[in-house]
Amino acid sequence: MSEKLLQLLGEQNGAYVSGEAISRELAVSRTAVWKQIKKLEAKGYVFEASTKLGYRLLSAPDPLTAQTLQERLAGGRYGAPLHWYESLDSTQNRARELAEAGAPDGTLVLADQQVQGRGRLGRSFISPPGKGVWMSLVLRPAIPLPFTPQLTLLTAVALCRSLRQTTALEIGIKWPNDILLEGRKLSGILLESAAEDDRLRYVVAGIGINVNLEAADFPEEVRERAWSLRLASGRAWERVEVIRSFLAELESLMGIYEAQGFEPIRLLWEALSVSLDKPAVLLTPQGERRGTPIGLNAQGALLLRDEDGAVEPVYSAEMA
Ligand code: BTN
Repeated sequence: MSEKLLQLLGEQNGAYVSGEAISRELAVSRTAVWKQIKKLEAKGYVFEASTKLGYRLLSAPDPLTAQTLQERLAGGRYGAPLHWYESLDSTQNRARELAEAGAPDGTLVLADQQVQGRGRLGRSFISPPGKGVWMSLVLRPAIPLPFTPQLTLLTAVALCRSLRQTTALEIGIKWPNDILLEGRKLSGILLESAAEDDRLRYVVAGIGINVNLEAADFPEEVRERAWSLRLASGRAWERVEVIRSFLAELESLMGIYEAQGFEPIRLLWEALSVSLDKPAVLLTPQGERRGTPIGLNAQGALLLRDEDGAVEPVYSAEMA
């Protein structure tokens, strides 16, 4: 029935079909039509409903299939081999398994849906089907272990720059690696690394981007703080293009990082940051710290100026 309904509404090129006409055409009740609409909405279809005019189809979920991805990501440093899944617990887990089994630098794991997506500090990360980008990239950079946090900052810069290029929206970075738009979280990054004898074996860079999520996709307790490209711009975005442009930007920045070190990345991060030069409260493992973040040091730690003017680096904390 959902196929027939989609065909019927799809043929109208965005024009309304009355509920009555649909129920007659499909030989079902109007309540059954409404239920089907709700089911399709959960899969990423967007309809407009009007009591007078009926329903019209505004957009279909964009196809994020292995084939589309393979075609559009071909030739880059990142994105091959590609492992695509309709549903996973978490792309981080799968990428880690692949990395342990020897997957090369650039291996990408993507899932249309995650049922146990996870964020920093053990939080869960909402990852419904058809609407977002949930991916993990295996990286094997030849850098000293203590430099690993720089990769988080580099990933945030690549993500922020690529999203700005794709959407022209004023997207910024909240320290250390949240991507914000209009003060709300659009995207998160989770870097997990494996080391042996002070040597970095691999990094799994997990990236979640709220592309076409609607307010109702977020649980109520985060709705005020969460945001999507669609909610901010009022239009849907093609997920494969969001992925392609991020991977291309990451490749370009990684090239700069490998050739010139962290300094150019540090400057780009500072230029995109929305966390600098205003009073902040940082929750560190040692307790709360107050001050004004003024930039990053050469290692990538946040420089915090306290009330007395003393500047200290902060390596790990949560910004309230
Ligand atoms: C955060 O904001 O705390 C980080 C969120 C990271 C979410 C991504 S989605 C793809 C990958 N798989 C996960 O389970 N988490 C990361």
